[in-house]
Amino acid sequence: MEEKKVLMKDTKAVKTARVFPQDTNNHGTLFGGKLIAYIDDIASISAQKLCRSPLVTASIDSVDFLRPIKLGDAVTLEAMVTWTGKTSMEVLVKVTSEHLLTGESHMAATSFLTFVALDEQGRPKPVPQVVPETEEEKWLNETGKQRAEFRKKRRIQSKELIEFLQARLDSGRPGIS
Ligand SMILES: CC(C)(COP(=O)(O)OP(=O)(O)OC[C@H]1O[C@@H](n2cnc3c(N)ncnc32)[C@H](O)[C@@H]1OP(=O)(O)O)[C@@H](O)C(=O)NCCC(=O)NCCS
Repeated sequence: MEEKKVLMKDTKAVKTARVFPQDTNNHGTLFGGKLIAYIDDIASISAQKLCRSPLVTASIDSVDFLRPIKLGDAVTLEAMVTWTGKTSMEVLVKVTSEHLLTGESHMAATSFLTFVALDEQGRPKPVPQVVPETEEEKWLNETGKQRAEFRKKRRIQSKELIEFLQARLDSGRPGIS
């Protein structure tokens, strides 16, 4: 049976929101946790456009906050599936801010996230392959395998840390001091 494929451009999702006072920290800029919630949300929509099945966030790579996003600015998030494994999907989210009175616009943050598609039993399920077309899409796709390898190594370290902390918890010595 031929493997199902989806064009990268068909996984694009975009969201724009205004930064309101309740979204800001005590510096008057967009609260980092709020931005991460926006990033996870838009990225999951993009991944689901590819797999068309239930999914979970497996990991969020480092979120690089490049510039503060100010109260009253418009924040725009663009997400796209950049690489697919067997059951996992890598999504790139680009965040830009716009000062609505001047029209000045800046790249504010970027992040890669990984989602895993699930079957009815909640087990990882194969996903269609994403197909890049433009030069930028091809570059993002070709470099995806390397990023996935890096995450695999990081996941092993993360599991070791969790096992260590769990053992301390089980022995009645919680905490990391
Ligand atoms: C993500 C999850 C489904 C993976 O299940 P698993 O039984 O460990 O599955 P596997 O080890 O077979 O991994 C399945 C795929 O996920 C990828 N994967 C698993 N953990 C990952 C991680 N932390 N980062 C990136 N990719 C990951 C694997 O590389 C594999 O990809 P591939 O099929 O494309 O090669 C499982 O760990 C889980 O349910 N985690 C909780 C997710 C959750 O609750 N998210 C909400 C936010 S807290």
